[in-house]
Amino acid sequence: MNTVKTKIVPLRGTIKVPGDKSISHRSIMLGSVAKGKTIVHGLLTGDDCLHTIECFRQMGVHIDRDGEYVEIEGKGIEALTEPSNVLDVGNSGTTIRLMLGILSSLPFHTVILGDQSIAKRPMDRVVNPLRAMGAKIDGRRGGKSAPLSVRGGALTGIHYVSPVASAQIKSAILFAGLFAEGETSVLEPEASRDHTERMIQAFGGNVEVNGLKRTIHGKQQLEGTTITVPGDISSAAFFLVAGSIIPGSRITIQNVGVNPTRSGILDTLREMGADIAIDHLQDQVMEPYADITVTASSLKAVTIGGEIIPRLIDEIPILALAATQAEGTTIIKDAAELKVKETNRIDTVVEELKKMGANIEATEDGMKIHGRSALHGAHVSSHGDHRIGMMLAIASCLTQEKVEIQDKEAITVSYPGFFQQLNSLR
Ligand code: S3P
Repeated sequence: MNTVKTKIVPLRGTIKVPGDKSISHRSIMLGSVAKGKTIVHGLLTGDDCLHTIECFRQMGVHIDRDGEYVEIEGKGIEALTEPSNVLDVGNSGTTIRLMLGILSSLPFHTVILGDQSIAKRPMDRVVNPLRAMGAKIDGRRGGKSAPLSVRGGALTGIHYVSPVASAQIKSAILFAGLFAEGETSVLEPEASRDHTERMIQAFGGNVEVNGLKRTIHGKQQLEGTTITVPGDISSAAFFLVAGSIIPGSRITIQNVGVNPTRSGILDTLREMGADIAIDHLQDQVMEPYADITVTASSLKAVTIGGEIIPRLIDEIPILALAATQAEGTTIIKDAAELKVKETNRIDTVVEELKKMGANIEATEDGMKIHGRSALHGAHVSSHGDHRIGMMLAIASCLTQEKVEIQDKEAITVSYPGFFQQLNSLR
């Protein structure tokens, strides 16, 4: 390990984070099954979304991309054709799960797979309801794991009570329901992100929202539209925490999506005592966005659990880092879903932050973090998980010794240019 001492430098300046990953995926998917041209501004060009584009190109959809600008020649779902090779989603759980909803309605055979992480993640959560709608899906472990083989066709609506608050489950079923016979509904235990519902409306479709229940009528024809993707709050989260915990920092992040089903990080950081200002809120658009300014402050421990968990699920690794710098014991609970993300994020967060001197322990459904700890240099690993890699990169800003991050390339799945932006703030 390189133990050369460096100064801890405040982060100061203004940045724009890349486009929202969830919204980017959905814009490609709905643009590909709609009729007419769809234009997307501000698409996330991370590996995950590029895989989504490739999957639809393989089914004959004409998609032109120039950086973050995309044009899709939508000809309706009936124009999609059987791919001559397997569809590869890379590391993207959103691609495989949401696409399964679409593939289930297509009258041909597809095989869909991803990397080693995808092969480990549970697919039965979407396979089971899609089978109940009439899709013929098989795969490893009886269809619980990818690679999966889908023979789609005529589907019938179902009324599904989801055991988990998951936008991927909800969206896969709503996508299948869009083209099914009759009515389809999904009831969730808590509200998950609602980008699918908002975007179906933007494409001229209709989803009824009633408390935690979503209902969609089948055989809808979507029409191409123009989508502007706001900055990803899950990417902004790394700088929101960095700006809060690195002494002397002040960072403004422009055009960040602040959809209330995603903004739990803002509520939690504020409860911890963070100094966060929201300006230029635009809420008359499909997805609200704003500029967010964070100024370093002293944080205190909180308990994070219950309905807020789906609103900040992807931000828990970076919140765990924030908790190492907060006074007192932070408890994160009701977050067992972390175990089935790109890695088991309870284990990877605890293992890696411990190496840097954090006082952190895993629990059944979350973790306990005792603050404050002075973090030190170490050899750490992203475990191939983009959000663990970025969390560790921010943690390294707090150490005087060097932190070596193994497998940091994983970051490109959601945040190409992350290190350049981090350096631009020093
Ligand atoms: C996503 C939903 C969430 C989230 C993932 C993106 C989406 O997963 O963790 O990064 O775009 O629908 P779950 O639906 O499994 O909670």
